[in-house]
Amino acid sequence: MGDIGFSTAAVSETRPPAKNKIFLGTFIHSKTLSELEYLHNAAVAVDSLGTIVAVSPDTDIAKAKSTLLPQLNWPSDDTDMVVAKAGQFFFPGFIDTHLHASQYPNVGLFGNSTLLDWLNTYTFPLEASLSSLPKAQKVYSRVIRKTLSHGTTTAAYYATIDVPATNLLADLCLSSGQRALIGRVCMDQLGPSYYLDESPAESLAKTKQCIDHVLSKDPKMELITPIITPRFAPACSAPLMKELGQLAKETDLPVQTHISENKNEIALVASLFPDAGDSYAEVYDTFGLLTPRTILAHAVHLTEKEADLVTERKSKVSHCPCSNSAITSGAARVRWLLDKGIEVGLGTDMSGGYSPSVLEAARHAVLVSRHICMDEGKSEERDKLSVEEVLYLATRGGAKVVGMEDKIGGLEVGMEWDAQLVKLHEVDEEEEEEGNVDVFGWESWEEKIAKWVYNGDDRNTKKVWVRGRLVHERK
Ligand code: GUN
Ligand code: FE
Repeated sequence: MGDIGFSTAAVSETRPPAKNKIFLGTFIHSKTLSELEYLHNAAVAVDSLGTIVAVSPDTDIAKAKSTLLPQLNWPSDDTDMVVAKAGQFFFPGFIDTHLHASQYPNVGLFGNSTLLDWLNTYTFPLEASLSSLPKAQKVYSRVIRKTLSHGTTTAAYYATIDVPATNLLADLCLSSGQRALIGRVCMDQLGPSYYLDESPAESLAKTKQCIDHVLSKDPKMELITPIITPRFAPACSAPLMKELGQLAKETDLPVQTHISENKNEIALVASLFPDAGDSYAEVYDTFGLLTPRTILAHAVHLTEKEADLVTERKSKVSHCPCSNSAITSGAARVRWLLDKGIEVGLGTDMSGGYSPSVLEAARHAVLVSRHICMDEGKSEERDKLSVEEVLYLATRGGAKVVGMEDKIGGLEVGMEWDAQLVKLHEVDEEEEEEGNVDVFGWESWEEKIAKWVYNGDDRNTKKVWVRGRLVHERK
């Protein structure tokens, strides 16, 4: 293991300058919520800063060399060519809008618990243990590598209450090249005595230390963004939430928290905050925490009135279907949220959710939407989410949720090259690693994508780039 508490200030500066790159082959991304765009035999030019500067249809290597390079004024010996073979495709990197980096060692461990006992039994003890920096280093390095290998190019992370370990997570994302929002968890009540901020003032001061740390390493927030993170209303006193709401206003930084995940949690909020509005959403609103940059995880049991308030405040929702099923929270009504005009992305919510994969979250989103559809008397056929829709949520939707829709989520000029190269196994091919998806040769592209969504995994994710930099490769 490397040095603990090392400085990564010079990481980006010491890396050799990136080359310009031309990607060639099939490119697929969301055009609208319900429609994917397929671009075959195309070339995408990405400059040394990682920005897409040209998308050129009907372009093979020869044409790229003879036409595109001169147009861009790029010397051919200083430009990397990355070619997707027939059947492979480039897809935008996934955006995980909600996960707890600190809980990664617990994936799969939840037994039959539900939220409040799960927190006490599994979660708080593990998070507290990450004040050990060697342990945090091990866990955080692993979670970054694991999520990158599943194609997650942007992650909205919760760390822990510990400042040095949270800062280490930011450093590791920076050195690994994963785009991330990094939140130090704020909680001054409900947790065990060994895992609590001592006071609202201390919680605020420590939050500012983490924000300052990120800004000292990445002043323009090109890769890492600090995010204000009140854990959830039951774990935050009214004065703490007030301070954090004020901080969000002063800094215009994003906010992340949990809302309306579990019925006992909702009852707890009502009993803890009888004077701060009439609902869970109103509690956050009372303290200025429902901003256009707020990511609300779960939103399973929101009332009509709460959803209308969320719409009005332009706050976003992270849908975490794996978690909601695993710890028996409920089924979030994504179609209803979308119909309200709320932006929705997907979250793995590790380790409430057991899978590090956003592709798996997309698959679970499909299944949960079908359970809603089967809920007789309440639901309609159109509650079902399609393959295209969940891929939108995993990319463009997620980009809106983290406030980066101008930069990521799609593959057009002006966007940054956060992308993955996907390969599905063709049955006649002789390959060492076949993966879980078999393509027989008769499938349309739409069918290949459906097969990927339902059976794909990290074995299909061959390469991953963030801002044009190769950050994962599967040999
Ligand atoms: N609510 C408060 N803390 C947590 C957490 O760590 N995970 C989930 N799923 N819900 C929470
Ligand atoms: Fe969570």
